[in-house]
This record gives sequence, structure tokens and C-alpha cells, in this order.
Amino acid sequence: MVHESFQTVKGQINWDHPMYRLYEKAKRNGRWNPADIDFSQDKEDYNRLHLEERISILPLISSFSAGEEAVTLDILPMIHVMARLGWLEDTMFLTTFLHDEAKHTEMFSRWQQAVGVGDIDLSVFHSDSYKRIFYEALPESMERLYTDDSPEAIIRAATVYNMIVEGVLAESGYYSFRQIFKKAGLFPGILQGIDYLNMDEGRHIQFGIYTIQRLVVGHDDRFRLFHEYMDELWEHAFGVVNYLINLAEEQQKLATAPTILEFHPDMMRDYAVKQFEIRKSKIDRVKKYDSLSELEAALGS
Ligand code: MN
Ligand code: FE2
Repeated sequence: MVHESFQTVKGQINWDHPMYRLYEKAKRNGRWNPADIDFSQDKEDYNRLHLEERISILPLISSFSAGEEAVTLDILPMIHVMARLGWLEDTMFLTTFLHDEAKHTEMFSRWQQAVGVGDIDLSVFHSDSYKRIFYEALPESMERLYTDDSPEAIIRAATVYNMIVEGVLAESGYYSFRQIFKKAGLFPGILQGIDYLNMDEGRHIQFGIYTIQRLVVGHDDRFRLFHEYMDELWEHAFGVVNYLINLAEEQQKLATAPTILEFHPDMMRDYAVKQFEIRKSKIDRVKKYDSLSELEAALGS
């Protein structure tokens, strides 16, 4: 591929582009360092838990660790396709995205090392649903972007990556962390990390929403494709959430000693369902526009 022209010599970066605004936000708000988080209290807390209680955190950690590693390794084709399309502002934003995911991966790995589970194989906690999404659907839909820059391919990739993995699973995971551990006064280090992650993921989900919105606006067939793929993935996404909840419930029943960990399975299931519905409604919001230029005018870009 050769370059035919360059945006910044014919004109300028589009400073009002939604992706450029996200890039500015990332430079301002994304300046945290996982190596600065103190996990010494987490280590003490972890070592005081009984085995059954540990089962309420290790599966969650195992899901996040592999999940963050997967999204770090799998984002490259998205950067590649946007660069090929010459979408400068999107590509600039994605440079911060990849860095964010690398820090998230680092954060969980550091925590595991700090509490002393660094060398335990936690992949036993990955259910079939988890594998369907993180081992298969995610890398498959992302890798396709190396050879396919069609709107359909980009919509599918952003749907699994930004709407399901980040928008439903990661968001539900943060909720569980806070529900269970914040209330119990445990793990201040990882909870601080979760706050940073949550802020980063907010930008990532925004990226996914705008990416899908701009491609579906004015195209009924693409709206359908988005909804069908969301519904297809939902079975597995809910499977991931349900597996983790069931596991924690079983452990609580087996527990021989009283626990300080409070746990509300129904609230957690409801939260995941709500996240799924919110993602869909964000995309449906652009149904009122007939074309991309109408959407851009409404966004002031
Ligand atoms: Mn992340
Ligand atoms: Fe992310």
C-alpha cells in the first residue's frame, strides 16, 4: 500500500473528532502506573481467607488476567485496519488503547505475584463459555481485520471486543469486585487498580460505541447484523457470568466457617443483563439519523 496524501499537510487533525477527543482524555486521565499500587494489604487479606473464600476471588482474577492478556494481544488488527483506512484520529486514540490494556495485564499479574499465587495455574477456572469468547470468538473476529476492512468485519470485531468483552463482562466483573470486596473491607490495592481500569475501559467502550454507530447509521442491514451478533454472543457471555456466580455459591454452601464476604447472585446476574441492554440501546440511539453526516453534525464533529 502506498500513501496518496497526508491529512496533516493538506489540512489538520480534526480536533473535534470524537476519537481525537478520546485521545486527549486518554493522555490526561490514563497516567497511572500499576507498579505504583501497593498490594501489601492485599497479601495479608488473602492469606487470612479460608480456602472457600479464596474460590470467590481466584476465578474472577483468572478471568480478568487471561481477558486482559487476550485484549492486549488481539487489539493490533483493529489498529491495523483503521490505519489502512487512513482514519488518523482513530489510529491515534488506539495507541493509548493498546498501552492501557498492557497496563491492565501487568496489574493483575503483579497482584497474583504479590499475594503468592503467581505460579498456580488458574486456567482451571475457564469455563466452556469463557473459552468460546476469549479463546475463539475474540481472536477470530479481530484477526479477520488484517484481510477484511469491510464495515461488517469491523462491526463484528467491535461487537465482541468492545460491547461484550469490555461492555458486559469487564463491567460486570468490576461490579462483583466492589460488591464482594469493597463491602468486606478487603484488597484495597486491587480495588484501586479496578478504579483505574474502569476509567480506561470507559474510553474503550466509547470507542466501540462510536465505531459501530458510524458504520450502522443509515444501514438497516448492519443494525441487524449488530443485534444478531450480540444475541449470538449473549448466550456465552451470560454463561461466563453464571459459571462464576454458581462456583461462588457452591463454595459458600461448602464453607465450614462464617464468612465476611457478602454475595448477591441475583444482583450480579441482573447487572450483566442490564449492561447488555445498555450497549444495545446506545447503538440503537443513532436509528434516528439517516446518514453519517447527520450523526456527525449532531455530535459537533
Ligand atoms: Mn482492559
Ligand atoms: Fe479495554
